[in-house]
Amino acid sequence: MKNFVFYNHTKILFGKDQIAAIAGEIPADSRILLIYGGGSIKNNGVYDQVIDAISEFEYFEFEGIEPNPSYEKCMEALDVIDENEIDFLLAVGGGSVIDATKFIAAAAFFEGEYPWEILSHSEEVVEAMPIGTVLTLPATGSEMNGNSVISRLEYKVKLAFSSPEVMPLFSVLDPQVVESLPKRQIENGVVDAFVHVIEQYLTYPVDGKVQDRMAEGIMLTLIEEGSKVVADPTNYNAASNYMWSATMALNYLIGSGVPQDWSTHNIGHEITALHGVDHARTLAIVLPGTMKIMKDSKKDKIIQYAERVWGISGKSDDEIVDAAIKKTVDFFESMGVKTRLRDYNIPVTIADEIAERMEQRGDVNIGENKLVGTDEIRKILEGRY
Ligand code: NZQ
Ligand code: ZN
Repeated sequence: MKNFVFYNHTKILFGKDQIAAIAGEIPADSRILLIYGGGSIKNNGVYDQVIDAISEFEYFEFEGIEPNPSYEKCMEALDVIDENEIDFLLAVGGGSVIDATKFIAAAAFFEGEYPWEILSHSEEVVEAMPIGTVLTLPATGSEMNGNSVISRLEYKVKLAFSSPEVMPLFSVLDPQVVESLPKRQIENGVVDAFVHVIEQYLTYPVDGKVQDRMAEGIMLTLIEEGSKVVADPTNYNAASNYMWSATMALNYLIGSGVPQDWSTHNIGHEITALHGVDHARTLAIVLPGTMKIMKDSKKDKIIQYAERVWGISGKSDDEIVDAAIKKTVDFFESMGVKTRLRDYNIPVTIADEIAERMEQRGDVNIGENKLVGTDEIRKILEGRY
């Protein structure tokens, strides 16, 4: 196992009707900016619960954060913060609203001239406004990590930053929010969380037994519970298991002390930036190609994955790898998530464009062994077409 520093200081309030408890988590006398998306929280009762909970505070609202949140929209919030002397941000929504809130929190305290540099030049976030969240879509893990992904529409780019400064102070996880989710968003959430686990697991063995077994446990839970939640979002126990799986998939726990490979995410973000495809669906397109093209360096872990997650054994190594890729594809497709570029009417020529864009940005030689260069990016995208 590698050396590591593990931190996570987000307090989780999990379970039915926990939104009511947030007042006790927000510092007294805070001036709150409530940040949310396109209005789903007004249709499912979450907005009313939040307003009831913070009624004793001075609060303001900032709505309209888009899926795949934009830099442009986030920057508008800075004026609202200045005008109203806001000192606490409350994100109510899915990964997009939480990510946007993190960027706003960092930009509000940014000392340089252009907050964009937090994303474009990985400018360090020294301090950020405190954040709390009420999660409404289990998927990204953003509610319990310090990551944020923001798109700049003007440049058609989608970039990430990460800082302990933007980790939420608290997050409410009430599985009842799953009831109002469109089926497509649940399918996305299960696949996104699954790929988060994979990217911290399908690398090379370092004898990280706790990390491996936790990762396998999360994957098995998502496989077992995912279809149940899609079939019946009112199944509270299935929704609870799905929600906690998604949080545990990307809160730094299973990734500590083990190699990680975020190449599928990096390539996927390009597909969203260019074609607007849902985040999780881009991962379903890219991951099978990553497993296939990088199979030599990932072989030992793919075989472990095949045996422990899918019960595949008794074949040659190559057959096991192929069977594991097929099981993964079948799982995504069974969740209603298509896995080929052509399913999204995207020409395979996008492979060249993405490889070039990533090369220009210096976003190549990625993956656990830095082996994913422009050729590999091209092959990964062309791999299964
Ligand atoms: O905007 P509203 O009206 O709230 O509607 C949203 C949105 O249209 C809707 N929704 C959310 N909760 C709902 C609901 N509708 C009904 N009932 C509810 N309870 O769902 C739609 C999608 O929401 P969004 O927040 O965009 O989805 P998700 O949580 O999948 O977030 C995706 C974003 O997170 C980034 C992705 O790149 C993408 O931009 N990621 C963030 C990560 C992180 N911070 O660690 C890691 C991930 O890998 C990912 O990259
Ligand atoms: Zn993701």
